[in-house]
Amino acid sequence: MSRPLPDVFDQALASAVRAPSPHNTQPWRFVVEHDVIEVWLDRERLLTVADPHAREARLACGAAAFNLVICLRANGLAATVRMLPDRTRPDLAVVIRLDGNQKATALERKLAEAVFRRHTNRRPLLDKEVPPALRAALKSAALSEGGQIEYLDASGRYTTVASLVRQAEALQAGDLDFAAEAAFWTHRELDSPDGVPKIASGPPPHSHGIVSLRASHENQDLPSREYEQEPLLGALLTRDKGPHAEVRAGMAMQRVLLTATAEGLATSFLSQPFETPRTRESLDRLFAGLGQPHTLLRIGYGYPTRLTGRRPVADVLTQRTGPDVPAS
Ligand SMILES: Cc1cc2nc3c(=O)[nH]c(=O)nc-3n(C[C@H](O)[C@H](O)[C@H](O)COP(=O)(O)O)c2cc1C
Repeated sequence: MSRPLPDVFDQALASAVRAPSPHNTQPWRFVVEHDVIEVWLDRERLLTVADPHAREARLACGAAAFNLVICLRANGLAATVRMLPDRTRPDLAVVIRLDGNQKATALERKLAEAVFRRHTNRRPLLDKEVPPALRAALKSAALSEGGQIEYLDASGRYTTVASLVRQAEALQAGDLDFAAEAAFWTHRELDSPDGVPKIASGPPPHSHGIVSLRASHENQDLPSREYEQEPLLGALLTRDKGPHAEVRAGMAMQRVLLTATAEGLATSFLSQPFETPRTRESLDRLFAGLGQPHTLLRIGYGYPTRLTGRRPVADVLTQRTGPDVPAS
């Protein structure tokens, strides 16, 4: 098969690092060898308090892998994907192997282009409904990667989940370790290569709405604002649970986020209830029968905000020139 041009790999890796990750920790490393790109979980960059089992980090690795794949496909390259292919190396999250050429579709090009515009928008959304056709498009995006989006308004779980978000937020606010970890990773300068810059935080809410964004992501320098009354919330599920499902969920999550971006929608996350054991168990019970919940997305219309920084690709890349011989 024809070898890809090196700049296609450069572009794919530049896309990979634009993936979202909890507190912008970027818990990934990439190894390139010939026509294979490996995505590794980097345990040195785990949130040890909020994410001790690397669940959110695996979602982030899955998202980075999706960005890689969509970039390759948009460039006319077919790629096969294997998730957690080696039991003896559980931190090898995804292996992507080039598999010849394949004509890029308009959708693949649209999603690949959205990688460089997607960002987490923590600002107030407009009180404008997401139309049914777009709700359906996000559901199909999740399905095509083996995930599922469950809209909470449609499934009658809205109030319960919103209450779990508030409960978890209150528990975390009273936990010094949580607070210290969040403080370390947030309120950074805009040019910080990792962590969440202050400019990406939202204004303090005027009054407490039905769901609360993370207090650690409030920018107290901004005047308080009214947030939307009842944002569209979608839970991302997979049929199975465990590390494999978490990587798969990350890929599905990223396809949903890119589809939303391409359609002009703003998105952000509400992860608090996944990070405290009691609320997490309640979430698991609430969705029992439907699937394993992995993350909660807030979706709507808003004004775009700034992209946040990333570490350079060179800092997260190893090029292997032969079996087990790292070149850099
Ligand atoms: C699994 C996961 C969980 C996240 N949870 C939250 C969250 O609870 N609140 C929030 O504001 N952002 C959350 N984020 C968004 C990250 O903070 C964001 O992706 C990161 O700061 C990089 O910024 P960007 O998404 O704008 O590129 C989460 C991201 C991921 C992948």
